[in-house]
Amino acid sequence: MKTYHECIVTSNQLVAPGITFMELYTLESIAPKPGQFAMIRVAKTRDPFLARPLSIMGYSSHTLKFLFRVTGRGTGLMSEITNGYSLEVLMPLGNPFPEPQGRKILALAGGVGLPPLYYYKEEHPDETTLLLGVKSASALPALPARPWIPVTEDGSAGLKGRVTDVARQMLQSDEFDAIYACGPLPMLAEVKRLGAEAGLPTLVSLEARMACGVGVCHGCAHPLTSGEYAKVCTHGPVFEAGEVVL
Ligand SMILES: Cc1cc2nc3c(=O)[nH]c(=O)nc-3n(C[C@H](O)[C@H](O)[C@H](O)COP(=O)(O)OP(=O)(O)OC[C@H]3O[C@@H](n4cnc5c(N)ncnc54)[C@H](O)[C@@H]3O)c2cc1C
Ligand code: FES
Repeated sequence: MKTYHECIVTSNQLVAPGITFMELYTLESIAPKPGQFAMIRVAKTRDPFLARPLSIMGYSSHTLKFLFRVTGRGTGLMSEITNGYSLEVLMPLGNPFPEPQGRKILALAGGVGLPPLYYYKEEHPDETTLLLGVKSASALPALPARPWIPVTEDGSAGLKGRVTDVARQMLQSDEFDAIYACGPLPMLAEVKRLGAEAGLPTLVSLEARMACGVGVCHGCAHPLTSGEYAKVCTHGPVFEAGEVVL
């Protein structure tokens, strides 16, 4: 059975407009993998009542990392937390991205879809090429380590264009064995087409509204191409692109 871990906030800072990078110290040792996520109880008063799902961005020596966009009340409160505050975190949850096993992975992140693929790149630096797509340079997070190739829609930093367009060009000249992606749904739909065109295994990490995070409430059901539904929290969040409706 999954249990909540007590964690202490050690750093919480704005790294781009509306985007916060948070580090926590975990009292117990955990063993998360890139692609897995956590459910964070924002306040001990249970208001807001539901925990918020966030992808794990990294873990080593009891330090856990998250990167999140403030989109509502829960993430707003989280962005204001000060060092020393203790949070209850249910983790690690869901299925990770598979290990490379010698394969070359093209990892495509869109905006705050960065955390799982940042962690993957950290764990598998030699096998992973990570592209981070944002609208313009100001949206690139000012993190201590930036192991990505920036892609901006307006060309203000890095390569110009949408991350999927740049990926399509790269696939023509470089050899990759698989595509992994996390980002907004329209981007993932394009990644699915890209993967099919290139004939490569393509995995996408999905988001869904979650109440429990552990397969009990059925709140996170996502349609499959088979006509059935899968729970994003336990069957995912990582799915084969061809398996899901995008
Ligand atoms: C597996 C997973 C990993 C995620 N990882 C990240 C991440 O690394 N960084 C990041 O910025 N965001 C991530 N999200 C999205 C993040 O969970 C939502 O932005 C957040 O829950 C919004 O909460 P809120 O209280 O601020 O917004 P509100 O709109 O006030 O939230 C109301 C309710 O809706 C839920 N909700 C709202 N938007 C989303 C959403 N997009 N996805 C899921 N639930 C939502 C909330 O959890 C809450 O229960 C992830 C979502 C999932 C499912
Ligand atoms: S969030 Fe409850 S079943 Fe997935």
